[in-house]
Amino acid sequence: MRVPNHIAIILDGNGRWAKKRGMPRSFGHVKGCENLEDICEVAKELGVKYLTVYAFSTENWKRSAEEVGGIFGLLVKYVASELEELHHNNVKVRILGDYNQIPKTAVNSIEKALTTTKDNDGLQFSIALNYGGRQEIVRAVRQICYLVENGELKGQDIDEDLISSYLYTGMENQNIPDPDLIIRTSGEEPVSYTH
Ligand code: FPP
Repeated sequence: MRVPNHIAIILDGNGRWAKKRGMPRSFGHVKGCENLEDICEVAKELGVKYLTVYAFSTENWKRSAEEVGGIFGLLVKYVASELEELHHNNVKVRILGDYNQIPKTAVNSIEKALTTTKDNDGLQFSIALNYGGRQEIVRAVRQICYLVENGELKGQDIDEDLISSYLYTGMENQNIPDPDLIIRTSGEEPVSYTH
């Protein structure tokens, strides 16, 4: 069986899934989070090397404070219940996005997950949190401009590899390859940038 090296999953459709069943959106997020536990397990068993989940985009701050709080609450619960097993399974957790802007309890959980799993070399599990494609580009361009302004880099030396190394996927000199398969859990096909 051919197994994709990198699977990226956009965790969406939770709200609609719950609404269809007459339940609150938060119930959909709880179920989505439970599915994530199975996804990680299966990805590891299949020998997938990179798994990325898009959990919270920069656009998602437009949701109600209650919904946003609920999502980060789930993240804290997820780390508390799953971290030991993830570590035991040699999974390395990485975060894509400006996670310092999210609630403090969630930042603490994330930092614990990052520190605990930092030396693991099994499944590379990236969670996109407060992530936006444009925000990622702005961050990379600012960092590169800083080097140019300080004379540490010449404009003509900026190439694709350099830009890649300033994206979240290039952090710590451990380049995450492009996904081979992108899944939207809602079943929708377009990969939008406004969701
Ligand atoms: C997007 O759309 C989904 C979210 C904003 C949250 C997804 C987050 C989780 C399931 C929990 C994250 C936890 C960890 C551990 C990563 P939606 O589901 O509201 O979609 P809809 O409005 O399209 O139905």
